[in-house]
Amino acid sequence: MPKIALIVLLCLSPCWPQVAKEANKDYQTPEGRRRVASTLDDPHRQEALKANELIARLGIKPSSVVADVGTGTGFMLPYFSEAVGSAGRVIAEDIQQDFLDKAAARIQSQHLSNVSTVLGGDKNPNLPEGQLDLVFMLDVYHHFDYPSDMLAHFSRALKAEGRLAVADYYRHRRGPQDGDMSGHIRADRDEVIREIESNGFRLESKSDNGSQQYLLIFAKK
Ligand SMILES: C[S@@+](CC[C@H](N)C(=O)[O-])C[C@H]1O[C@@H](n2cnc3c(N)ncnc32)[C@H](O)[C@@H]1O
Repeated sequence: MPKIALIVLLCLSPCWPQVAKEANKDYQTPEGRRRVASTLDDPHRQEALKANELIARLGIKPSSVVADVGTGTGFMLPYFSEAVGSAGRVIAEDIQQDFLDKAAARIQSQHLSNVSTVLGGDKNPNLPEGQLDLVFMLDVYHHFDYPSDMLAHFSRALKAEGRLAVADYYRHRRGPQDGDMSGHIRADRDEVIREIESNGFRLESKSDNGSQQYLLIFAKK
């Protein structure tokens, strides 16, 4: 290999696995994250998401242990808290402490006594090993810079019969008000399925989650 090509390759290689730079560009500053937080808590989003229907499709049994990975401001936490009941447990995980602080405020104000928060890293969600029945992500998978590392940790965190659920946006089905999101959403549904299946999971079901999102549920291989 010519020397110059080798130098270019060596300079590029540390950056290569970081695949979600565009999706994460608004998350780099506290102001950016404040703006994102207000969109996450927007009542229109909450109407569009139909959280009760989503929870029903996840088939959560009472006393389950669920991780809401990339919980943001914790929009899904009251729904998970109710679904797992007082004998269950919900772990609200995120890599941004300011989002987790907002989730913690929600946990406190809504008395969600079975929910706790965990600060993760971009390659490691810091979840307990072998204890989870469900790892859930809403509008999060396309933000992963290191999806293979995250999936390996999810596999270790899940019980043998545990499941992984991904609700995310279709790359080409955003509404006209959202403009072209193909830079923000790096991979479409079928590519996400292939990626997750090649990292230790088997697709169990796929369906639409509203008009713009899909829901994928995987078992461990
Ligand atoms: C669009 S927000 C969605 C938040 C929440 N799931 C919701 O739907 O309201 C994306 C979230 O993913 C988080 N995130 C990005 N990369 C992550 C990673 N590697 N591990 C965990 N969370 C991550 C962000 O900090 C942010 O809270």
